[in-house]
Amino acid sequence: TYHGFEQADDIETFHEAYDNAVATIRDDLGSTHDLLINGDRLTTDKHFDVRSPGDQSLIVGEFAAGDASDIDAAVAAASEIANEWERTDVADRVAIFRDAAETMRTRKFELAATISIENGKNRTEAMADVDEAIDFLEFYAREFERSDGYDFDTGEPTPDQHTQNVLRPYGVFGVIAPFNFPMAIFVGMTAGALITGNTVVTKPAESTPLIAEKCAEILHNSGLPDGVLNFVTGDGPNAGQPLVEHEDVSGVAFTGSREVGLSIRETFSEQGKHGPVIAELGGKNPVIVSDDADLEGAVEGVLKGAFSFSGQKCSATSRVYVHEDVIDTFTAALADEAEDLVVGPATKREAFVSPIISDHALERYESITERAAADGTVLTGGSVRTDGNLSDGRFVEPTVVTDIPHEHDLARDEHFLPFVTIHPISDLKEGIKKSNDTEYGLCAGIFSEDDTEIERWFDEIEAGMCYANRSQSATTGALVQAQPFGGWKYSGTTGKFAGGYWYLQQFMREQTQTRVK
Ligand code: SER
Repeated sequence: TYHGFEQADDIETFHEAYDNAVATIRDDLGSTHDLLINGDRLTTDKHFDVRSPGDQSLIVGEFAAGDASDIDAAVAAASEIANEWERTDVADRVAIFRDAAETMRTRKFELAATISIENGKNRTEAMADVDEAIDFLEFYAREFERSDGYDFDTGEPTPDQHTQNVLRPYGVFGVIAPFNFPMAIFVGMTAGALITGNTVVTKPAESTPLIAEKCAEILHNSGLPDGVLNFVTGDGPNAGQPLVEHEDVSGVAFTGSREVGLSIRETFSEQGKHGPVIAELGGKNPVIVSDDADLEGAVEGVLKGAFSFSGQKCSATSRVYVHEDVIDTFTAALADEAEDLVVGPATKREAFVSPIISDHALERYESITERAAADGTVLTGGSVRTDGNLSDGRFVEPTVVTDIPHEHDLARDEHFLPFVTIHPISDLKEGIKKSNDTEYGLCAGIFSEDDTEIERWFDEIEAGMCYANRSQSATTGALVQAQPFGGWKYSGTTGKFAGGYWYLQQFMREQTQTRVK
């Protein structure tokens, strides 16, 4: 199904609307884009270009290369308006985010097409990215309203005193977003910081500034006062780092690599900052396939988990521990199915495997597949695709590898590529031990028909997101509110999950207010 378009006619309608949106957007590509600071569009001396990963001749746009002076201006604007924004009524505040959600809903095909062109995501997944952003806005608005902005009357500690216990924002938040969910995660983190009364300076991933700019504009135009949301494009060293280090930035929300996330936390600690670093980091997500598993379901789940958006998800399935009695059948079926997946740009309706985001990632693919061939067996995949139009973009084959020891770094490091290793196990105990033998703890999956086994796995697996028998995808595709998303161990810094009931509180600090009557 395509997001509610279940009838054949409706699927046609979906594709037509998407194709029209792509055609319209293509006419607007290539223009020069500015920063948004204090409600003003500001230009910079230097710009950087973004090209479509599915067709590198296509210039998405020229974007302002923001630097420390732009960050200074943005943080100054955000600081200036912080008190006023904090005092905005809860009802007025949530209305802005609901309006933004409504605008995104009416523009969803344009936004999905923008995502596809800019980061290469296939059309179904691009639409899911838009839907998730809308869900974040509506869920956070509902939660903030339901809790009355986290303001509790705690009553009278003694007959002459009265106390309120409240959560209050920290001030200015830096929000640094990734390329892989360039709308959902960008909007989710930004909305989390804003709705709780902080002001924000946000920097999108260098490869996905266009969709982020559209979302920042929608949020700003939905009624945020000037300076509440500031938008600075640029790279990590020149824009991201000064944002994190700025003395008036009290907290950071970040999604991306473990290395960068931990370095932000380190910077905060060196600077003696007290505010939070709310970071969602990587994963090396294991799946166990038991001897009595429904193998067809397991193959489908691993296929989708490992290869959707070409494995460029922190939630991607990357190692599979299969019972030795069924490993040959499972692996052969997985390799067969992987070979049949359609690799191609989102402009092709049936394309499933998306292009790779950067030259650097392509080089990494070449290097890990070469090493996999030397140290193990590459059952399928392993090559860069240059046939037909694929040479216009960065396309690679989904890759299934066996005979790599569990201890090998190919089975331990996060690759963010369509690359999965399969390992034999003799029982559940070994599967759980090996699954947990990692510094990450984001997603995990199991396929088993035995409820006792599944129960034990839920008890013993060290992961934030645990999915049993999920053939739609073994580890990816959490839904806002229904499946709050986050990680344990080095997969996250706070242990609280996006799209969940404890997410917003992280952006606030507690204050107990007692007055003598
Ligand atoms: N939330 C996404 C998923 O569940 C990953 O960021 O796949």
